[in-house]
Amino acid sequence: MKRLAILILMMTLLPAWSGDAPSGKDLYLDNCVDCHGDDAEGDDQASPDIRGATRTQLDRALPGFDQMPEFEFTEAEIVAVQGYLEALE
Ligand code: HEC
Repeated sequence: MKRLAILILMMTLLPAWSGDAPSGKDLYLDNCVDCHGDDAEGDDQASPDIRGATRTQLDRALPGFDQMPEFEFTEAEIVAVQGYLEALE
């Protein structure tokens, strides 16, 4: 019975880790790279260096403020992008 429970648990959790998980790198390259640059170091103009951006910064930025455009990212996408930016630091 315990094994079955573990199996069911794994079947529900696995998709989140494998194919369905959004790639932070792809999200970044598709949506952010034009302004924040190849390595997220900023563009020497309006767009800041966002390597290692915190969740608080992302929650403030992604709904759009000032020249930062609005993005409707899911929770999983925000987590993925943040992970990517963290790895760049
Ligand atoms: C059209 C250009 C543009 C795009 C595309 C863009 N940004 Fe920005 N971003 C900006 C600008 C400009 C600012 C600075 C806004 C300000 O301070 O007035 C900013 C600010 C930020 C900040 C806040 C940094 C801080 O110091 O708090 C974060 C985080 C951020 N962007 C993340 C992202 C992510 C993640 C993406 C891709 C999903 C993205 N941006 C796409 C232009 C852009």
